[in-house]
Amino acid sequence: MLKINPDRYGVIAQTFHWATAVLVLIAFIYGLGGNEMRVYDAAHDFQRMLHETLGMSVLALVVLRLLWRLLDTRPAPAAAPRWMRLASTAVHGLLYGLLMALPLTAIFGAWLEGHSLTLLAGVNITSPLPLAHALGQSLAEFHTLLGDAIMILAGLHAAAAIYHHLVLRDCVLKAMLPVWFKVWQPKKRWF
Ligand code: HEM
Ligand code: HEM
Repeated sequence: MLKINPDRYGVIAQTFHWATAVLVLIAFIYGLGGNEMRVYDAAHDFQRMLHETLGMSVLALVVLRLLWRLLDTRPAPAAAPRWMRLASTAVHGLLYGLLMALPLTAIFGAWLEGHSLTLLAGVNITSPLPLAHALGQSLAEFHTLLGDAIMILAGLHAAAAIYHHLVLRDCVLKAMLPVWFKVWQPKKRWF
């Protein structure tokens, strides 16, 4: 019932995909820059709570999504040269890796620096770890680099999906879209 079409990802897999993409984008926009004092300044409490809540939701979603992926049937890969299929698998693997590593570096970074996780609705998760400030700071800095990395990789991944749709004119993009979402595709090759 949940699988409408064997050529497409199922409704649940599509929902996980697009909800994650939107949450990552908003988390990135509301990412906190600057030094530790600025990040944990009371004036930035709301932005930090929003960012941490969005990021924790990404972590929860990616764990559920990977569990669902074990049970779900995915569409057969589009006919494409071997290098392209390998590149696509590698990028998907890296995206999953980043979706896990981003929240984990932030959580452990904040805890090792001695900060609680502060989420919306007054949820506070105090650090269960001993203080290791320098290591925590390095993890927090690494987290910001990973934030940039996921945007670049997701951008290339989205560009590849659009290239498949417009230039190769195959079903790769449609596979991740619901059947009711009609998207224009050229009838003939451009060159
Ligand atoms: C997919 C999820 C996430 C993305 C895309 C993301 C992205 C970013 C980015 C790009 C920055 C740097 C902003 C800038 O330099 O202008 C940042 C900083 C930060 N993020 Fe995240 N983040 C995510 C998840 C989380 C989570 C789950 C937490 C906490 C539980 C968190 C806590 C922080 C903190 C505390 C900083 C400031 C780092 C510092 O101390 O310098 N983030 N994030
Ligand atoms: C932060 C943003 C994004 C992330 C983290 C992300 C992540 C992923 C991941 C991990 C997969 C593999 C799914 C699986 O087989 O389990 C995937 C598939 C896919 N994504 Fe994204 N994605 C993002 C944004 C986008 C955007 C903006 C588009 C379209 C413009 C897009 C189009 C697709 C398509 C068409 C597939 C299926 C590819 C195939 O089966 O070969 N994604 N995405």
